[in-house]
Amino acid sequence: MDKTLESKFAALKSKKLKIDLTRGKPGSDQLDLSNDLLSMTVPAESQSGVDVRNYGDPLGIPEARMLGSELLSAPVDNTLVGEQSSLLLIYQLILANHLFGLEMPWREQKNLKFICPVPGFDRHFRLLDDFGIEMLPIPLSGSGIDIDKFKELLGGHDNIKGIICVPRHSNPTGDIYSDENMSEIMETGKAYSSEFLFILDHAYLLHDFAPTIDQMPSWELAKQCDVLDQTAIFCSFSKVTFGGGGLSFAAAGTKLFNLLVRQRASMIVCSDKVNQMRHLGFLQNKADVLNHMSKHADLVKPKFEVAFKALDSLNSEIGSYKKPTGGYFISYNTKKPIAKRVIALCEEAGVLITPAGSTYPHFHDPDDSNIRLAPTFLGLEDLKEAMEVFTTSLQLAFEE
Ligand SMILES: Cc1ncc(COP(=O)(O)O)c(C=O)c1O
Repeated sequence: MDKTLESKFAALKSKKLKIDLTRGKPGSDQLDLSNDLLSMTVPAESQSGVDVRNYGDPLGIPEARMLGSELLSAPVDNTLVGEQSSLLLIYQLILANHLFGLEMPWREQKNLKFICPVPGFDRHFRLLDDFGIEMLPIPLSGSGIDIDKFKELLGGHDNIKGIICVPRHSNPTGDIYSDENMSEIMETGKAYSSEFLFILDHAYLLHDFAPTIDQMPSWELAKQCDVLDQTAIFCSFSKVTFGGGGLSFAAAGTKLFNLLVRQRASMIVCSDKVNQMRHLGFLQNKADVLNHMSKHADLVKPKFEVAFKALDSLNSEIGSYKKPTGGYFISYNTKKPIAKRVIALCEEAGVLITPAGSTYPHFHDPDDSNIRLAPTFLGLEDLKEAMEVFTTSLQLAFEE
């Protein structure tokens, strides 16, 4: 064992750090960008004549639906504004299929399965698990999913109900699905079943911090592939304005849209139109949103660069990662099965990292290799220290 490495680790440990690198949250400087929302005067009535103080307009006030439709490139009639969480809308869509379904309720069917790109978002896995849906992991290729493996999975299983994926700046790998990949997913899923759902979680639709390839809007792709009735697209302002205090949007083909609306009608009379109005006073259209997002990019980019610099200093025998151009995460893969050990060492030195396995269904990373880093929440100095602990722990675990 390398003595200098051991003494470096001991020195870091003696600093008694307390740094949390676990969740992808905006930094407080990013939240400050939206402080105008805190003191905004909200008119009682929207331009379209909706009294925002009262019940009514369960799909959102027209101006907010317009904004959602512009962001998701979907017709306004197929776009709704939800509460502050897109995850909740996705949950409601799965619940609607469970209870009612497009053809037959899922609860009356057995051995349901979903395709889950990995590494992926832990809460997608948790959501599917709540409904007893088996998750079939599929590797990401750098520009979407492995299509051969997708075809193989569809060929080998009955009752696969759909795929849930993050087509832009995927959490945590940063994958950007190419238009070809997305079209192949849609064509293959459509051939498999007219009930196969494409759940597109566009949590990072607007979150580029470096030049990123253009994608055809998901709505357009679904229209071209004639799968609109099997497609639902989501995004939110959780990482645009305030975490847990923004707006969420959903767009779907008419049948699926009506199913979601029907489910929501049993749960809530209408969403918070005052918050919709407040947001419209701050961000009126897509151009405003993009301008606002460029300010986020200016704050986030230096943090990613600190993390990249630390990771690039490592010997490539230890592991690898791809530099994301947006989103909130870095996905690091160790070449030896040491992810758990690395994270335990980090914790010993006072740096909390998302638990190993979190990026796989049932916390099962077969290679014990994937580690998710979330650099946005910390200040630059804390981040530098955290990355030093991380790279030292990686080297130690590798040598062990
Ligand atoms: C892929 C993905 N989807 C959804 C969410 C949550 O979004 P919301 O706050 O709109 O529910 C996150 C947050 O980390 C995410 O990474």
